[in-house]
Amino acid sequence: MQYSRIAGTGSYLPARVLANAELAQQVDTSDEWIVTRTGIRERRIAAADELTSDLALKASLAAMEAAGVTAADIDLIIVATTTPDVVFPSTACILQDKLGVHGFPAFDVQAVCAGFVYALATADQFVRGGMAKTALVVGAEVFSRILDWDDRSTCVLFGDGAGAVVLKATDQPGILVTKLKADGRYRDILTTPASIMHGDVSGKPFLHMDGPAVFKFAVKALAELATETLAAAGLPQSELSWLVPHQANLRIIESTAKHLGLSMDKVVVTLDRHGNTSAASIPLALDEAARAGRFKPGELLLLEGIGGGFAWGSALLRW
Ligand code: ACO
Repeated sequence: MQYSRIAGTGSYLPARVLANAELAQQVDTSDEWIVTRTGIRERRIAAADELTSDLALKASLAAMEAAGVTAADIDLIIVATTTPDVVFPSTACILQDKLGVHGFPAFDVQAVCAGFVYALATADQFVRGGMAKTALVVGAEVFSRILDWDDRSTCVLFGDGAGAVVLKATDQPGILVTKLKADGRYRDILTTPASIMHGDVSGKPFLHMDGPAVFKFAVKALAELATETLAAAGLPQSELSWLVPHQANLRIIESTAKHLGLSMDKVVVTLDRHGNTSAASIPLALDEAARAGRFKPGELLLLEGIGGGFAWGSALLRW
């Protein structure tokens, strides 16, 4: 039986730190409001000349080094992003070229904050089906470019960054179960409703969110998905060692942890320093915890992401 397993992780954060106190000088907000409502204290902002593919490249090189592979070994690239360098070609094709390799499949997945689990699930299927042996799966975003910096209800929430994993074919189960969901009826509660029309940008090119509606949807959907994912693997909740959730709001994360009976020291939290980096948040969290040696071989990890679409998904895996 063919499985896929995470062989190495990597991440990259832009150098510029934007703390809540600095934001409070630009919009009518406060460190206290942001920390209490979200758990976020600071976020990173990409430099003007840093593209999503640049962030992705740095995270990818770190993941490849950790996995002990070179670009020549990679036979599939999937990039999860909602902030691609350009409309097309895909950021995955640009990344492939920046890695100096060519010829094998490379494509983007657009599922906003669920993008990384969508990309991981897709890569897992490629590996299980024998179409890839060494896949590079990346989540990379520059959300700072689609924020209205005068809108205090959204600009305080997001940050820029990238995370990557190398997924290798193996006969030992790594990824056990993936689950993907979407419900387009909720597409208007979290959206950047712009498109390019005849040479002009049509619609508002900034992120719009109905925060309370998103909060309510996320809490319920993530709890149900966690239960469903464990059941699909035939594993009890008590076997779960770690939750590596999408980093949107500490209260959403705490609610999922409570549902799973996990104490917060078994939950990887990075949003205090990263903010919500959309598709990058899970691989960033995964890399930080992996490099700190928090995961032990054989431990059971649940990854969960949710975002615009609405789209949400999970991956249950053995470390
Ligand atoms: N600073 C100060 N006050 C603010 C700010 C701010 N940055 N933003 C909004 N407010 C005000 C509002 O104007 C409102 O004032 P009013 O009562 O006078 O009208 C008040 O705070 C309460 O606003 P709510 O939106 O009801 O606040 P809520 O407690 O719901 O928190 C938040 C807002 C943090 C966005 C929350 O709804 C949330 O986290 N939702 C989940 C959304 C999310 O995480 N999205 C990320 C992308 S999707 C995903 O990844 C899951």
